[in-house]
Amino acid sequence: MSATEDTKPPSQFEQRLGGIADLCESTLDALLSSDPLPLEYARPQRLLDAMRHAALGGGKRLRPMLVVETASLFGVHESQAIYTGAAFELLHCYSLVHDDLPAMDNDDTRRGKPTVHKAFDEATAILAGDALQTLAFDVLTREATHSDPAVRSALVRCLATASGIGGMAGGQMLDLEAEGRFTENKAPRALSIDDVERLQRMKTGALLAACCRAGAILGGIGDVEQRAVERYGRAIGFAFQLADDLLDVEGDAASVGKAVGKDAAKNKGTFVSMMGVRSAKRKLDELVDDAKWALRPFGNRAEWLSACADFIAARKS
Ligand code: IPE
Ligand code: IPE
Ligand code: MG
Ligand code: MG
Ligand code: MG
Repeated sequence: MSATEDTKPPSQFEQRLGGIADLCESTLDALLSSDPLPLEYARPQRLLDAMRHAALGGGKRLRPMLVVETASLFGVHESQAIYTGAAFELLHCYSLVHDDLPAMDNDDTRRGKPTVHKAFDEATAILAGDALQTLAFDVLTREATHSDPAVRSALVRCLATASGIGGMAGGQMLDLEAEGRFTENKAPRALSIDDVERLQRMKTGALLAACCRAGAILGGIGDVEQRAVERYGRAIGFAFQLADDLLDVEGDAASVGKAVGKDAAKNKGTFVSMMGVRSAKRKLDELVDDAKWALRPFGNRAEWLSACADFIAARKS
């Protein structure tokens, strides 16, 4: 990061994101305390340390922001929505720990720190991912998340659908297949642009879209609003992965907080590698416009979500 970027004052959006990030940090810190919960036997220190390494002290916390800001459209206070936001962030942190493993992307740096398997070891990283994932679902079942069990159950399903075979995990499988790893020296199947779009929407977009859906579930809203939120979530979800792929090509590792140039080195199927940087940027602009268009029914109330769409497209980390 250059000196001028370093000293640039945070935008209003960045200040708002920072406020939600602080709230998320303290919520996660409490969830990852060393005190066992009733019915837990113990919290082994090494596993807890690895989970804390993965979940605390870094990350933009965009997923909690999306939950909090979507919920706020429907009058839900952030002090309530943050539990759901923290649950989605825990699931995201688990996905990063596993994504970085040698068996997957084999990365050494994440959020400006050593990846969990580098700071600890592979077995501990696998277990930390597992335990972050189950904690995410545990949080959604707690009364602090919402007083109505039907709402909590809808949230559990929302997170499960977005992160399982038909969402993030499925998308990660398609991502690895697209590298041609499982073809035993045969050339990988040529991917169409639709294949790449689907894999990207699944591996990253699904969870981001689900954050918006979860905010709407907390707010208990009607069909028209649900459709608007859904459209926004899908647009920013795909935009986010496009921006990630552009950062891999154009970003610098120090600001991004992780290695760059990895996708081309591994021959990853990305929209950028298939369509080129210019087309990817054009697509990104279209997605941001679409996201903002979807927010029209909410007028000024959706100001932060609108700014979030711009931030996702223009982000440098
Ligand atoms: C990075 O996600 C991994 C992808 C899903 C592409 P983020 O860019 O949101 O990572 P953090 O949470 O800010 O570190
Ligand atoms: C990761 O995508 C998506 C998930 C973790 C589900 P990438 O592999 O592109 O993310 P980075 O670039 O390592 O953050
Ligand atoms: Mg990956
Ligand atoms: Mg990766
Ligand atoms: Mg990437």
